[in-house]
Amino acid sequence: MLENWKIDEKFRPSASIVVHLGDCMDLLRTIPNDTLQLVVTSPPYNIGKEYEKRHKLESYLEQQAAVIRESVRCLSPTGSICWQVGNYVDNGAIIPLDTVIYPIFTRLGLKMRKRIIWHF
Ligand SMILES: C[S@@+](CC[C@H](N)C(=O)[O-])C[C@H]1O[C@@H](n2cnc3c(N)ncnc32)[C@H](O)[C@@H]1O
Repeated sequence: MLENWKIDEKFRPSASIVVHLGDCMDLLRTIPNDTLQLVVTSPPYNIGKEYEKRHKLESYLEQQAAVIRESVRCLSPTGSICWQVGNYVDNGAIIPLDTVIYPIFTRLGLKMRKRIIWHF
């Protein structure tokens, strides 16, 4: 699998570290199916930080679903995904993003094994 990874030299599987400065989808699309043991990400929370454009929740979830689908495609059947998100606030209502992202993972056949809630 990874041995046959014929892609850009900078993404070669023998590298111990690859830093991809760009859209994660461009990197994920180059990775073969069922190969990653661990995906860890802190994606945008859609709260209007300087690095993100705030979208309607449905549109944000569609974007996240596309990245999650690609991540799951690359994930080994024995692999894990850690998806760290916060709260989306809409018109005074708090929506914990993990609760709305959870169904995307379950539809793709993943099981939640652990839930960590940070409190300050
Ligand atoms: C919640 S922040 C995570 C910050 C990170 N944990 C850190 O300590 O710097 C989300 C980050 O995802 C980046 N980002 C947003 N869309 C992205 C994409 N399509 N591909 C790669 N990175 C993306 C943003 O620029 C931002 O730095």
